[in-house]
Amino acid sequence: MIEIRADDRVFILTGAGLSAESGIPTFRGSDGLWRNFRIEEVASPVAWRDDPRLVWEFYSWRREVAAQCKPNPAHFALAQLEQTLGERLFHCTQNVDSLLEQAGCRNVWHMHGRLMQSRCERAGCKRPAFDDRNSYPTLESVPRCECGGHIRPHICWFGEVPYYLEEIAAALDSCTIFICIGSSGVVHPAAGFAAQVKSKPGTRSYYIGPEEPANSRYFDESFWGKAGEVLPSILAVKN
Ligand code: OAD
Repeated sequence: MIEIRADDRVFILTGAGLSAESGIPTFRGSDGLWRNFRIEEVASPVAWRDDPRLVWEFYSWRREVAAQCKPNPAHFALAQLEQTLGERLFHCTQNVDSLLEQAGCRNVWHMHGRLMQSRCERAGCKRPAFDDRNSYPTLESVPRCECGGHIRPHICWFGEVPYYLEEIAAALDSCTIFICIGSSGVVHPAAGFAAQVKSKPGTRSYYIGPEEPANSRYFDESFWGKAGEVLPSILAVKN
């Protein structure tokens, strides 16, 4: 059990494994390849420069897959935890899908962006990211921004800086419990959060997932299994 006491502050880090039981493929599992491309080859500024059509094809496909998926018991357990702990919970996700919100979460920090949003490619453009559930079969079907820039997915690609790093750093600093769910521990900076927390005395850290992550040595305890099966029964809030 993970006992959460009245004075605990909890940092949750979720990864692709959380949504695996909902039918969204993970990136590094055996189902993680898209048409023989590795994620790093289609999710980068270089891919966008060289072949924006391929990039939109990939994200259009991901939007179509995600639109069919429903939250699983792990998403609902996290929504319940948010309701119970309020501002004592900081939930940072690497996932770009909206399944946590569909399960009732209202306060999730999407450090890698949102699949169902797009934005202008130009860094200087003032237009904020906007909701966009469309899939674009051709590059010509992608609308242009008023400034003339191309519209791109609102995703943090390899080589770009993730969102909300300041808020995340503050929450890592103040948490007393760190729980990582369904992440391979390969992609930084998120993969380094467990090590950061380990260096703070008194913070307990846990991993939940079916396989050992690359950063497993930084967790005090692991619960092996699928998030949807394990998570709902191991959180004990003692308020
Ligand atoms: P990965 O695909 O690297 O790892 C998924 C992890 O989920 C693996 O360790 C699996 O063992 C685990 N897993 C599989 N099924 C599970 C289940 N039912 N319950 C719990 N865990 C399960 O995904 P991430 O670590 O999230 O970034 O990947 C990090 C980032 O790499 C992603 O956010 C994405 C990708 O490039 C961007 O797109 C920017």
